[in-house]
Order: sequence, then C-alpha cells, then structure tokens
Amino acid sequence: MQVLNNILEAIGNTPLVRLNKIGKPEIEAEILLKVEYFNPGNSIKDRIGLNMVEEAEKKGFLKPGGTIIEGTSGNTGMGLALAAAVKGYKCIFTTTDKQSKEKIDVLRSLGAEVIVCPTNVSHDDPRSYHEVAVRLSREIPNSHFINQYDNLDNRDSHFKTTGPEIWKQTEGKITHFVTTIGTGGTISGTAEYLKKVNPAIQVLGIDALGSILKKYKETGAKDMNEAYPYLIEGIGQDIIPGNFNFDVIDQIEQVSDKDAALMCRRLAKEEGVFVGYSAGAVVQGVLQLKNQFKKGDVVVVILHDHGSRYINKVFNDDWMRDRGFLKDEIITAKTIVERKKIKELVAVSTEETISEAFKKMKERSLTQLPVMNENELVGSISENTILQLLMEDAANRESQVKNAMGKPFPIVSLQATATEISKQISKNNTAVITKNNAGDWCIITEFDLIEAMA
Ligand SMILES: Cc1ncc(COP(=O)(O)O)c(C=O)c1O
Repeated sequence: MQVLNNILEAIGNTPLVRLNKIGKPEIEAEILLKVEYFNPGNSIKDRIGLNMVEEAEKKGFLKPGGTIIEGTSGNTGMGLALAAAVKGYKCIFTTTDKQSKEKIDVLRSLGAEVIVCPTNVSHDDPRSYHEVAVRLSREIPNSHFINQYDNLDNRDSHFKTTGPEIWKQTEGKITHFVTTIGTGGTISGTAEYLKKVNPAIQVLGIDALGSILKKYKETGAKDMNEAYPYLIEGIGQDIIPGNFNFDVIDQIEQVSDKDAALMCRRLAKEEGVFVGYSAGAVVQGVLQLKNQFKKGDVVVVILHDHGSRYINKVFNDDWMRDRGFLKDEIITAKTIVERKKIKELVAVSTEETISEAFKKMKERSLTQLPVMNENELVGSISENTILQLLMEDAANRESQVKNAMGKPFPIVSLQATATEISKQISKNNTAVITKNNAGDWCIITEFDLIEAMA
C-alpha cells in the first residue's frame, strides 16, 4: 500500500509546470512555475511550518501540551496549524486586518485562536501583530514564539527541501531563480542551496512597490520614505527580517498592486493556474525583467499559494473596480447590466394609458420605457413623445400607449461592446435592450452607458 503516515509527509515535492502563453513570444527562455499550492495547506509555508516546529522540539523550546505563537499573514499559520494538529500543540496567531477573511477563517477551522491587529502601524508598535505575538509568548506559560522573520529554521527549510527539489527537477539546468520576498526565507534558503551547487545561477527577488527591501539591497539604507501601504499580501517589508541573506540575491524588482492583480487573473484564465496575489506579482516581475532572459535559459519561478484565498479580492470584479484596477477593461452589455443599480426592467403594455406610463417614469426618474405585451417587445415610449402629446391636447393623457409608441429599442447581444452600443443610441433612440444570462430582458439607457464608462 502507498500510504503516508500523516498529512505532514505530503509536504514538498510540488510540481514544476511550464508557462505556455504569458510572456510569449517575447520571452524565449523556459519559464517553469513551481506550484506550491500542491502542499496540503495550499502554500509553500507548510515547509517552514513543519521545519520550525520540529527544530523547536529538537532545541527544547516546544514541550508536550505547549502553545505555538506566531504573527502570520495566514499561510505560515496554516503550515504551523497542520503541524500542531498532528503533533498535539495549541496555536495562537496574530495577524493584520489587511489579510483576507478566508485565510483567517481557515486558521480558526484548524483550531487556532486568531487575533486581528491593525495593518498601518509600524512593526515595533505595541499594537502590531508582531509585538502582540511577542507579548503573548511572554505571558503564556509553556508557549513558544516561532518568529518566522528572524528564525533561521525558516530559510533552512528551503535549503533542505525547495532548493534540492528544483535542482533535481531541472536536472541542474536552472539558470535563474525568481521568487517574491517577504520574510526572505524562500529566496535566501533556496538561493543558498542553488548557489552552492552552481554559483552562476541568477537570483531575482520580486518586491512590492511600497516596500523598503529593494532600496535596502541597492544602497544598504533603510529608507522609510520608500515605505507606504500596498495591497499584495505576504510580500515586501518595512523592516529587514533576519532571514534575508542579501549576498545570494542578485537583483530586486518591484511590482505594483494593479499589475500583480491583473496578472493573477491572466494566470487563471490563460494558463489554468489559479494562484494567489503574490504569485501574480512574481510572474509580473518576470515580464518586467524579460530582457534578462535569453533562449535556452531555464527560469524557475515560485508561486507561493492558491487563488481560493483571494476570491473576494483579486478575483472579485467589484474589489478590483473599487481600486481602479479594471479601468482598461472592455466594457460590454454584460458589464453594464451587472453594474446597473436598478436591475428590474420597468415597462408598459400597449393597453395602459399615457398617464400611467408617465407615472411609472416619474416614480423611477426614467425618461423612456419599453412597451411590452407579455414578454414580447412591441415598442417604446419616451418622455419627449408624452410631453408633445400633452401639449397638443391634455385629453391625450387617457389615450392608450399603443397610439403613441415608437419602434421597439434595438436588441443587442450581451457581448456587444460599449462602442457598438453607443452607435445604436441617438436622439431618436435613447436605449437598447439585451437579455441577461438568466434570460431576462434588460434595458441599457444612454445614462447607463455613460455611468459604466465614467
Ligand atoms: C502569499 C505569500 N507570498 C510570498 C511570501 C514571501 O515568502 P517569504 O516569506 O519566504 O519571503 C509570503 C510570506 O508570508 C506569502 O504568504
């Protein structure tokens, strides 16, 4: 029987997957993705969770019945919680209010206590997730603060596993190693191994715009003017964690929140690789550094975690739009209909009177209505027509709509673009009609079109 003794034995040996479309044809090198969501906790941090717990046991920091304490953005917590569940420890995690709710819920599901702390305070502020973790580890008896930032068993887990796996999987052909940087564990441990077996391998770190790490690497200065809040989770710093070994890092490139988020979506849609925000950042970084790679190079890129933890963030259109990340999208009838505040279609029938039609318009501040019998579009009526009729003769208000209606609004497909729709809209025709995926008629007025484009 092929059986693992417990879930911890399923950590590591993640696949290396070729990037097939993104970056082609400009990048001729092989881009190989090390997809770390295949770990049981869906991230690379299972590797460090297990190693840091086992090393703490060996060093006598963790004793039976003990409590593991850590400040974590979620993924390390998951790795630690898995190890704790199998080995019988309690867990208390502190995290920031920037982290996705899903990540926090997952940690609680694994039995951990999670304390949420403010994001926009400095690392050494007593309210920060780091300082709260330090304080708790002092107060709670038989507890151990793991401290993934400065605990070198973090980077050693990559020296022991990630580096050798990559070397073996590429049969020693790797020329470049690219990863995002947070605690510095992934880049430093993996690069220490890779440079030991082949010092020519280039190591490229991907940082967030708003982090001080790039400038620190380039100048040695901790320039706090470089630090400002950003959205990408798990990467970048306003401190220099002890796990960094800058000697094995050749270059650091920064990417923006927007570019990283858009790349996450491309990876899912174009490559079927459903990964988290930092994975979008690293692939965006590879594209920004494309001039460094030539034909024949083998570039290994770490994708840290799974996309399911970000469905309410980068994979959510409203979240993206609220941050102005979708401005360049092609607006279609579908997007306009989805964005409309009033979704219900207000129509009149041919048998209703002009005054009833006018009342419906007034109640909802509409300037035109489709005329429908049952579910069939038979005409349209506008505020201008009504006004004209009433000016001619006030008694017209009792006349039926069928006597005053104009042609039905043109029908467009859900895929029609804003440009195609705008060509149909004129002074004489102030709206178009489309059918949504549920099969309901929807109206798109000139106002809806303008609102969607603004
Ligand atoms: C999603 C994600 N990406 C990237 C990183 C950065 O990895 P490292 O801390 O090993 O530098 C982290 C670390 O927390 C992470 O959670």
